[in-house]
Order: sequence, then structure tokens, then C-alpha cells
Amino acid sequence: MADSTPAFGAGALTMPPRMEVNLEDCEVEGTIPSEIDGAFVRVGAEWYYPPKYADDAILNADGYISSFRISNGKVDYKGRWVETHRLKEQRKARKQIYGYYRNPYTDDKDIQDPEHPNLRTVSNTAPLTHAGKLFTLKEDGLPHEIDPNTLQTIGPWDFHGKWKSETFSAHPKLDPLTGEMVSFGYEATGLCSDDLWIYTVGPNGQVSNEVRTKVPYVSVIHDMALTHRHVVIPFGGYVTSKQRLLDGKIHWGWDQNQPSYIGVMPRDGDPKDMRWFKGPERCMMHTFNAHSEGNKVILYAPFYDGNFFPFFPPIDGSPWDPRKARSFIRKITLDLDSKKDTYEEEILWPNPIMDLGKVDPRVLSLQTRYLFAPFNDESKPFDRSKAPNGPARVTNSYGRFDITTGKMESVFAGATHSLAEQTFIPTGTSGREGEGYLIGVASNFAERRSELIIADAERLHEGVIARVLLPFTAASQVHGEWSNARALGLS
Ligand SMILES: [Fe+2]
Repeated sequence: MADSTPAFGAGALTMPPRMEVNLEDCEVEGTIPSEIDGAFVRVGAEWYYPPKYADDAILNADGYISSFRISNGKVDYKGRWVETHRLKEQRKARKQIYGYYRNPYTDDKDIQDPEHPNLRTVSNTAPLTHAGKLFTLKEDGLPHEIDPNTLQTIGPWDFHGKWKSETFSAHPKLDPLTGEMVSFGYEATGLCSDDLWIYTVGPNGQVSNEVRTKVPYVSVIHDMALTHRHVVIPFGGYVTSKQRLLDGKIHWGWDQNQPSYIGVMPRDGDPKDMRWFKGPERCMMHTFNAHSEGNKVILYAPFYDGNFFPFFPPIDGSPWDPRKARSFIRKITLDLDSKKDTYEEEILWPNPIMDLGKVDPRVLSLQTRYLFAPFNDESKPFDRSKAPNGPARVTNSYGRFDITTGKMESVFAGATHSLAEQTFIPTGTSGREGEGYLIGVASNFAERRSELIIADAERLHEGVIARVLLPFTAASQVHGEWSNARALGLS
């Protein structure tokens, strides 16, 4: 929601606020370094009309894109709906006509179209800048191209007809050395299909390679990792079937008896080169990074022990277990010389984090030293007397986790604040890993508004160096990215 006073569901209103925002010259506390010139673009999920089913996943809400354009220490904020086919159909009908998350059989009868599930995409998960274009992404449909200056939606993008998968991951990986993008689509040929198609797109935006392979079982494949030699595909636990959808259920259930899998394939490989390593019950949502060391692939990832999402219920009828919904920084070793079909795993820090990790994009696919992630520092206060409506679980800090030394440094957002995912802004001319800034949005629950916070990523202990104070609660964010002004031709 662009302005949530009063918030949907919290007051007397039954319709969500559906505003778009254009706020020039936002209030800034502190000083934004002049070397920061670009846009912090965020994508999130907001209901244009209330959901048809109260127990639906928030992941099914409509896409909303927002940006903080930063230049010469000044900030302009914009927020727009992503104009998907689905949003246009809702607007025509003037009501919610779509049913459960990724189940077209629960849509209003007159619009049901299970042969074209990607027309239901809400494009609400992540922004992507590649080859001079800006996109919004969601794993159940094609990217939507967005005008980077106005945030108006241009439309779905199929890479000049060469992206044949019906779906496109929300987490493609950009190779900083070659400028290539590697991405994939799962359920690539329709609802519940076991087709996983992996693509390389050149720095010119043209598809240069396609590999069509299959998965051991159909599951959420939310993220991937890339090394300079290998593609890494992790998943586990979530299951679906045509019958499940015909029964009117939400797309995914959790099967605690299913193994987790991590696929490894050479970047120039073909389907027979894909090797699947097996492991115990895990919810594998996001990765930090991976690199190749001889014939081993080392993956850093903040995986959960078990099901993170309460709205994707266990298929055995047991209650959702919050104790397993904890994410830890894990180092996973995949040995391509080994005859075993299992992977090795080590937890690097004992305390749980929030699973929204990032690395300096200049080391993506290469050996990493620093992992950045939000977490709750329990030694810091949350002042419930000033913020009685604050969430039960707060995320109050961004951390820099140093793999080489085992040390962690952090920055605290405030005693009435909770943070969304951080994004890394690389700066400097040396190319030194970790030189730059962390940027992210905090909800200030005492003042019922949002603040953009910026910290020096090499001096987190010195605290927040600048805050952009919005006079309202900003639209929610699943993921964000930083694009410098030149990459997107920003005015
Ligand atoms: Fe994600």
C-alpha cells in the first residue's frame, strides 16, 4: 500500500488503499554521500482488491514497484502498480476474480484458463536490471518490463521470442565478469510440469544458450546460485499435483518426508550433465553466493530447517512448526568427484538470521568473504510503549558476516523499527569486496511511517549515516536492487 493510514485490515476500511505516489525531494536526516547516484528499486505484494480466500498466501497479492532515486544527496520516491494482465482484468471486473496462489481452478468460472497459468502472474517478487532494461519478476510468469524513469509497465518480455519457458525465476544471477545473466524457469511447460529450462542471456539481452532438463520432483525452485563454471539449483519440501489443484487447494503443500536436492550443472553443459545431490528436510529459498574450487562447488545459503510458510500447510495434516522456520547461514559442499549422492552442510553462525542475504555483486559467482543479512539483535531494545502495534517478531539490524574471520559487525535501525531486506551499493574504484553502502527500508512503528536507511558497509558499527523520512508507510518489499544511473539511463 502506498499510504496505509489507516492500514487495510487494521481499521474500518474493507478495501485496501490503492494509491500511486510521486514524492519529490524527500526529507533527509544526515548526509547521503554524493558518490551514490542511481535508484534503489523495490518490488512487493499489495492487494488491489482483497483476496478471495482469507487464508491465501500474501505471495498472491498484486505487484507494486517503488523506487528511491538518489542523486547529489537528494531523494525522489515513486510507487506504481505493476500493470499485469491480471490487474487489468480485476480493474475491468471491479472486483477480485482470482483465487488461490497459483491455482487457476479456484478463479471465477468465466475467467478460468488453466492452460495459460502465466497470465495469472502478479509479478510481485523482485526487480531486475539487465542489458539496460528494468523488469519486475515472479517465478510463475514472464518478466514485466518497466520504464525506469516513470515506473510505468511496458509489458511482458520474452527476450525476442527466444525465452520459451512459460516461467522465469525471480532470482536470475548476473555474472560480473562476462555481463551474462543466467536464469531458469520451472514448471516451464505448464501447471505442475517437471520441466526445468535453464538459459544464458548475453550482455546484449539476447538468449545465447538453453538447456531443457527435468527435476527429481516438482517443487518450489525459488533461487539459484552461479559460479564461474557451474549453475546451482536448490529446492526441497514443497510439493504439488494436478489433483491437488483440482481439489481447490493452494498450489504448494509441505512434505517433511521429501529430501532436499541441489542440482549442479556446468554452465556449458547439457541435460545429462546435471547432477542432483540429496539432503535432509530443508526449505531452500535464497542463496548468498557460490564458487567452484577444483571439482567442488561451495554454496553459501541461509536455508531453513523446514517449512517457512504457514500458508503452505503440511500435507500430512500436522500443524505448521515455527521451530523449523528458522534460517541459518550454511556452507554447503557439493563434491563432483564423490561417488555419493549427498551434500555436506555446516552451520557457520549459531544464531538465526532473516533469510534475505546479499553479497557484493562484484563477487557474485566468485569466492566471497562478506555475507550481508538482516537479523534480530536481541541485545537491542524494542520500545513497545512507543510502538504498541509493532510486530511480534522484529528484525532490527543488518549484519556483515565475515567468512574469513568469523566476525560479525552490525548496524541497528532503531528501537521502534523493523527492517526489510538490505541491498548492497558497490562504490569506489578499487573493486575491493565490501566497499560500498547498505541500503534498506525500515518501518517505524512509533510514527507509522517508513524510513530508508543508509550505512557504510565497511563501518556498520558507526551506525546509520543517513535516513530518508517518508511521511507514510511505504509499499511493502519482497526484494530490492540497486541500479546506478548510467545502467538504466535515469534522468
Ligand atoms: Fe526471493
